[in-house]
Amino acid sequence: MTKVITYGTFDLLHKGHINILKRAKALGDYLLVGVTTENFDVTRGKINVQQSLMERIEAVKQTGIADEVFPEEYVGQKIDDIKRHGVSIFAVGSDWEGHFDYLKEYCKVVYLPRTEGVSSTQKRSEHTLKIGAIGEDPVISKLKKLSKSVNGIEMNAIFSKRNFAEFNDKYNNFEQLLAGNDAVYVAVQPEKRYETVKKALLQGKHVICESPVACNKKQAQELFNIAKEKGLVLFDSIKTAYSTAFARLILLIKSGVIGEVKSIDITCTSLENYEWLKETKYYSSFTGWGAVALLPVFKLLGIDYENCYINTVDGEDLEDIFTKLTLVYDNALATVNVGVGVKSEGDMRISGTKGYVYVPAPWWKNGYFEIRYEDAKDNKPYFYENEGEGLQTELVHFLRCVNDKKQNFYIEQEITEAVSAIMEQFKCKR
Ligand code: CTP
Repeated sequence: MTKVITYGTFDLLHKGHINILKRAKALGDYLLVGVTTENFDVTRGKINVQQSLMERIEAVKQTGIADEVFPEEYVGQKIDDIKRHGVSIFAVGSDWEGHFDYLKEYCKVVYLPRTEGVSSTQKRSEHTLKIGAIGEDPVISKLKKLSKSVNGIEMNAIFSKRNFAEFNDKYNNFEQLLAGNDAVYVAVQPEKRYETVKKALLQGKHVICESPVACNKKQAQELFNIAKEKGLVLFDSIKTAYSTAFARLILLIKSGVIGEVKSIDITCTSLENYEWLKETKYYSSFTGWGAVALLPVFKLLGIDYENCYINTVDGEDLEDIFTKLTLVYDNALATVNVGVGVKSEGDMRISGTKGYVYVPAPWWKNGYFEIRYEDAKDNKPYFYENEGEGLQTELVHFLRCVNDKKQNFYIEQEITEAVSAIMEQFKCKR
């Protein structure tokens, strides 16, 4: 029996996939198909595969062409599979010409003709979600640039502040931006977010908004109520929440690997954009960094703290140049340090009754962390491949929520509301 093997992502299964499966099968008697997992795809630079691994495996099975279908999870797996299954031929589309010649050591390698005029990338772009971004340069410039590599999204923008004229290409005002798009990315100054988001939701547009979405809890609740009533997605944009490393870290701790969490210490500081922030005068260290720093605290200790103490160092041009916040829980403590125009070690320590987690700086985008114990022999490092810019991953998740008509489960509504409540306390203090 001649065994043939092929691999692919097989997202939104199309004619090109069916043809390649048939051509591969025709080379022998038995066809094995490896379907790439999300994580493996991310390391290959595919960031917005639409269907889950199970859906894609099921779709390949449904074709009835493959005799065996399984996930492809790691670099080098092809060699293992070929040896383990006694495969004679490795087949793949001609777009990969030469790429898999290294497998010639193990079996015959065949590059089959690719079907012209169809691809998953093209299918993902068929139903484009038009997002109108509003905010200030340079945030919007970055957004526009990075969104280009996410299929299925078209980003149009209006800018205020610098370069206004240059980027205000398609629309003259917010009303026009709303009318011409399906969703809005809100990156305006914190005090203006509530009214901007509300206007967008009332016009029937999905919203992705920088955090804090509102400057008090009541406003945040009102926005969620409108979104619910109108069947729209209101999506909180804290990029850290969408990284695999962060999500896995939270799950590990919740599974008890460091025992009960008793203390969390977090620092986030930056010098970048300080000049620009000073110029806009609408930002502060706390409104800039607060939501990111509070995210792990609320994820791990919940939102029912007993007391919240906030102390700030005023800046000359910025509302606060450094803020220290302590949350007192029934059974635990959390300290958050944030600064803009002040630099410190941006790490995170989560201390538990059995051990602790250390995430080196910059913890909010680090794919690496360690679980450490009293006996250093038990320490365990974790590493997750960089998924590209957090902003792109976030847009992919937003797109999925809109397509599946689901609310954001990476940042729960109660967390967005709790962040807004703390912003209120911060503002009242000032
Ligand atoms: N393939 C093909 N003809 C096409 C598209 C894909 O023969 N029009 C083949 C590829 O060469 C590969 C297999 O189908 O051997 C799986 O490819 P995959 O990467 O899943 O499909 P694409 O449509 O190319 O996906 P994307 O646009 O995300 O790159």
